[in-house]
Amino acid sequence: MKVLESAFAREFINTCEEGWQLGFHERNGGNLSYRIPDGDIDAVREDLDLSGEFVDLGTSVPELAGEFFMVTGSGKYFSHVKDDPESNVCIIEVDGSGAKYRIVWGLVRGGRPTSELPTHLMNHEVKKLASGGAMRVIYHCHPSNVIAMTFVLPLEDKVFTRELWEMITECPVVFPRGVGVVPWMVCGGREIGVYTAEKMREYDVAIWAHHGIFCAGTDFDVAFGLAHTVEKSAEVFMKVHSVTDTKRQRITKQNFLDLAAEFGLDLRVEFLD
Ligand code: 13P
Ligand code: ZN
Repeated sequence: MKVLESAFAREFINTCEEGWQLGFHERNGGNLSYRIPDGDIDAVREDLDLSGEFVDLGTSVPELAGEFFMVTGSGKYFSHVKDDPESNVCIIEVDGSGAKYRIVWGLVRGGRPTSELPTHLMNHEVKKLASGGAMRVIYHCHPSNVIAMTFVLPLEDKVFTRELWEMITECPVVFPRGVGVVPWMVCGGREIGVYTAEKMREYDVAIWAHHGIFCAGTDFDVAFGLAHTVEKSAEVFMKVHSVTDTKRQRITKQNFLDLAAEFGLDLRVEFLD
C-alpha cells in the first residue's frame, strides 16, 4: 500500500488541517509526530526508501530504537499539508542505537523533520514507557490564549492547572492530572526537550511560556482534543481577566471533589488548595 492510502496518514493530514483551521499554526508554527505501529509500517513498506544514510538526532532515545514516525517538516506550513502532504511531511526511521535517524518517505522537495524533533522524540520515549506503548501522538501548536496566559500568571504548574480547570467545568475530566509549565527557553534544541520530557512524565500537557503547548495522546483525536480544550479554557480565562481581576463566584474545592467522585477522576487534588 502507498503511505497516502493508509488510515494513519489520512488522520495525520486531517489533524494538521484541523489545527490550521482553528488558527493554531501561523506560517510554519507548530509540529506533529506519530509513532507508527509495526503493522502499519509493514503495510506501507513497499513505498519506503530504506537506502538513505542515518544522521545525528541531536539527542538519544534508546527506547525508540528501530521505530518509525510520521513527522511534519521544519519550516513547512500546516496549511499546505492537506494539498501536498508528500512535500510537507515525512516518515523517519530511528536507528538501532536511538541516536540517529533517516528519512524514508516524504519531503520530496527537500527539507528535514521539524526543528523540535528532539522534544518530540524525548516526549515519545517518556510517554511510551509510561503508557505501556499506548501513547503515540505528540502535538505542538501556538494557540493565542494559552500564550497570552503565560504573560499573566506565575509560571507554576499548580497555578495554571487550577485556573484552567476552573474556566470550563469539564476541564478536570479532560486533564485530571493537570498541566506542566516550562519557563521560557530557547526552542528547537535538546535542552528544552529534556525539560519538557520531565514535565511529560507527570502530565499530558506541557505549556511553553510565551511560545505554545505540547500535548500527548493515544491517538490524534486525544492529543488534538487536549490542546483544543486547554486553549478554549485559556480563552475563557483571558476574557474574564480582560474585564475583571476578581471573580464574583468560583468553582470551589468541594465542587471539584464532587466532580471527581461522580466521574471517577484521578484528580491531582493537591492542586486544589
Ligand atoms: P518547525 O517549522 O521547525 O517545525 O518549527 C516550528 C515551531 O513551532 C518551533 O517551535
Ligand atoms: Zn513552536
